[in-house]
Amino acid sequence: MGSNFIIMLALIFALTCSIAFASDPSSLQDFCVKESSSSALLNGFVCKDPKQVEANDFLFSGLHTSGNTSNAVGSRVTPVTVTQIPGLNTLGISLARIDYAPWGINPPHTHPRGSEILTVLQGSLEVGFVTTNPDNRHITKVLQKGDVFVFPVGLIHYQRNIGHGYAIAIAALSSQNPGVITIANAVFGTTPNISDDILAKAFQVDKNVVLNIQSKF
Ligand SMILES: *[C@@H]1O[C@H](CO)[C@@H](O)[C@H](O)[C@H]1NC(C)=O
Ligand SMILES: *[C@@H]1O[C@H](CO)[C@@H](O)[C@H](O)[C@H]1NC(C)=O
Repeated sequence: MGSNFIIMLALIFALTCSIAFASDPSSLQDFCVKESSSSALLNGFVCKDPKQVEANDFLFSGLHTSGNTSNAVGSRVTPVTVTQIPGLNTLGISLARIDYAPWGINPPHTHPRGSEILTVLQGSLEVGFVTTNPDNRHITKVLQKGDVFVFPVGLIHYQRNIGHGYAIAIAALSSQNPGVITIANAVFGTTPNISDDILAKAFQVDKNVVLNIQSKF
């Protein structure tokens, strides 16, 4: 009786943990392929009739193609989330390919809904993330081809190609829709913009500096 009770407690604890710790809610069925035509608003997407589900609902082709890195930061993220693969709905995972031009950066950003595990396929990357206040500890590392590095959910992180050629990485994320907040764009490129008085005080710089940065986004 006593040991049964302990087992029951352990089970309840395990169940509670799996619910509390998962990034996306767990599936209650084999799959819930996103039904694109539904207008119902809910957390995630309505399920397509399982009888109508086909292999292509679980497929994305094209990650062999390099992304166009001719832009201001010199990198390109090709996401493979529930937007690209409707079959990812409710599964709590997604993927991205990141291409870097020589010295290109994937600028500081966060994923509000997912941790990230990144594998370098080609080249060398300087990567880092920053812990929350008040420490704001900067944890950084230089990665070589084959290295795998983790960016914990919500923390600001970045990568820079420090090789002389192009670099490629594959990132896996613990959400069907991890979301991205690119810090520079989210602060200086909002619509409408955040008052330059506020930003000047926050960044402890002259208003002209703020206007100059805002004009770039
Ligand atoms: C890459 O992007 C640049 C800038 O947007 C554009 O001019 C160029 O044509 C693109 N290259 C390819 C191969 O799509
Ligand atoms: C910021 O917004 C204000 C008010 O809408 C506008 O007058 C100003 O030009 C904007 N600044 C920039 C840099 O876009």
